[in-house]
Parts: sequence; structure tokens; C-alpha cells
Amino acid sequence: MRLLAIETSCDEMAAAVFQGGKLASNIVATQEIHRQYGGVVPELASRAHVRSIVPIVEKAISDAGVSKAGIEALAVTQGPGLIGSLLVGVSFAKAFALANNLPIAGVNHLEGHLFSNNINESGPELPFVSLIVSGGHTILVHVQAWGKYEVLGQTQDDAAGEAFDKVAKILGLSYPGGPVIEKLARQCDADSAKKNMPRFPVARVADPFAFSFSGLKTAVLYHVRTLTPEQLAEQRACIAAAFQSALIAALVEKTAAALATRPARALALAGGVACNQALRQAMAKIAEQHRVPLFFPEPIYCTDNAAMIGRAGLFYLQNGKRDSLLLSPQPGLTLRSTI
Ligand code: KG4
Ligand code: ZN
Repeated sequence: MRLLAIETSCDEMAAAVFQGGKLASNIVATQEIHRQYGGVVPELASRAHVRSIVPIVEKAISDAGVSKAGIEALAVTQGPGLIGSLLVGVSFAKAFALANNLPIAGVNHLEGHLFSNNINESGPELPFVSLIVSGGHTILVHVQAWGKYEVLGQTQDDAAGEAFDKVAKILGLSYPGGPVIEKLARQCDADSAKKNMPRFPVARVADPFAFSFSGLKTAVLYHVRTLTPEQLAEQRACIAAAFQSALIAALVEKTAAALATRPARALALAGGVACNQALRQAMAKIAEQHRVPLFFPEPIYCTDNAAMIGRAGLFYLQNGKRDSLLLSPQPGLTLRSTI
């Protein structure tokens, strides 16, 4: 099956083509316009999607070495996400399917992230525990089978990536904050840590699998307010390191609890924050303690992409799922079992 996959849930315009079950092309265009605002502006995102969807889809098709007429099926992100952004992708995919009389599958973006370790051959074996950590989501899932999910816990306020982005803003750093904070945190060596490392609280939430990061963000804000600009400049790296380690400690604690209580053959990370090396190292330790392999996607498949949507779409189309052309975007779609 030659499948065209489209992802426009937020600020990434992405298209991918699968041929014979293999990924043949994968294009991701990040919208740079949001950088100057320090976060995604929904209206600007949907307008930029309208402008770029045709050239990006055409590039994905030509990079795959196929023709438009050769596409046999479509997969498109249905939600969750920004309504305006989702509308562009869903409307385009439905028009493409209608014009060419093709089957179409709407894909849950979160399920796409669960498939992001399985885009190429070797991925986690079922059942496994997956932690999706992105700018919009922090969700711990027991993947019992493809299509059968137990959502163990989610964030009660900010998503992990959102906390990175907001703390970066507090520290006067650029957007997106995750990569900048990670790089800066490495500059906090043992000597400056002794002098400058604040202690931030690891959020305690009664629910054993739920997360909360807004208290941590506020703790950073209150700490920074006590500093002069000179002190902040001197201590910025260690504040970034202290924030990053408190956030990772919370993720590790809940993920370890999931591994301790659910049958799992693997631990898998997904989402933009899964690019973080310190997080990967901390998760590698608990995976080893529970004697399971750790999987994390290549960076291009951590952040939003259409390859993961295509992989999930292929699973459903090959199992007979077809959506009608009444398919509509669902900005508040949650992750739930489909089988
Ligand atoms: O998965 P993604 O593209 O966003 C959503 O689907 O929401 O991930 C973007 C998020 C941003 O919040 C960004 O700051 C964070 O992932 N991120 C990181 C790193 N790289 C990206 N966070 C921590 N460390 C990184 N290296
Ligand atoms: Zn995402």
C-alpha cells in the first residue's frame, strides 16, 4: 500500500509516504514565525499550514519517487491539537481522498507518538510502558496491544515540554526552551553547583501516576526574582540544571512505578522532550533495574512528524479501518483503546 500521511496538529507541517510498509519519505517543516512570540500562536499556525501544505505534500511524494496518482490511501491527524491547524490537514486529506477515491484513516496524534519507536523495523515488544513527553502532553501509558491502551496518568497542569519552554522564558532564554536549557545545564559544573545550585521541589501528586509541573515552574520564578541581573547571569546554568533534574526526577519516579506494577517487555519514550539526553540517561537506569530495554526515537521522530501518523494509519487501514469523509478534527481527542 502506498500511503500518504499528513500531520498538522500544532506548528509542524509534516507529510510522509510509506511504500510496501516502509517509510519512503518524511518531510517536517517547522514554522519559525512562533519564535518571536516565545510560543505557538494558533492563528498564525493555521495560516502558515494553509500556505505550506501543498508544497510539503508535493515534496514528500516526489522524495518518495512516486506520483500523486500512485497514492493509494491517506492517514491524517484528527486530534488532539489546535483546531485551526487540524482543520487544514483534515480538509486537505479528505479532498485528496475524495478526488482520487481513496480510503482515509483519521489518527489520534497521541497514538502516533506511541508508534514513533516502530517507524522502522525494530521497536518495543508488546506489552510495554510508554512515556509521551512533549510541548502539549505528558502521559504515561501501558500499551497492552496496538489499539489497547491503559492511560496510567497525565499531567494535571503544564506539560513537561511546556515547563521547559516557560522556565526558559523566565531565565531569558529563547524558544523552544528544552534544547537551550539542556545545553545550558551542562555548563553547571561541580564547583558552581556547590555555590549556585538551588533545590527545587519534586512535585508530589497523590495519584501514583499523575504529574504536576506548574509548582516547579513557579519555584524557579520566585527564586529568579530574588536575584540581581548579575547573580542571574552567574547562576543561570545551575538554575537550569536544578530545574531539569527536578523535572526528570518526577518523570522517573512515576515511570518506575508503572514498570513495577504493569507487565512490560520494554520502556519507550516519545515526544519532543524524549530528545533530552539527561532524561534518556535517567530512564536507562530504571529500564536496567527492571531488566527491560529502553527505546527512544531518533530526534526527527521525537518531535511531531507524519511518519508516526503514517505508521499508526497503516496499522488501522491494514486492519480494515476506513473513516468516511465526514471525518472531522477533534481538538480535545483523548487516548483510548480502539479494540
Ligand atoms: O513533540 P513536540 O514537537 O511538541 C508537541 O507535540 O507538543 O515537542 C516540542 C517540545 C518543546 O516544548 C521543546 O521545548 C521540547 O519538546 N524539547 C525538549 C528538548 N527538545 C525539545 N525538552 C527538553 N530537552 C530537549 N532536548
Ligand atoms: Zn506531539
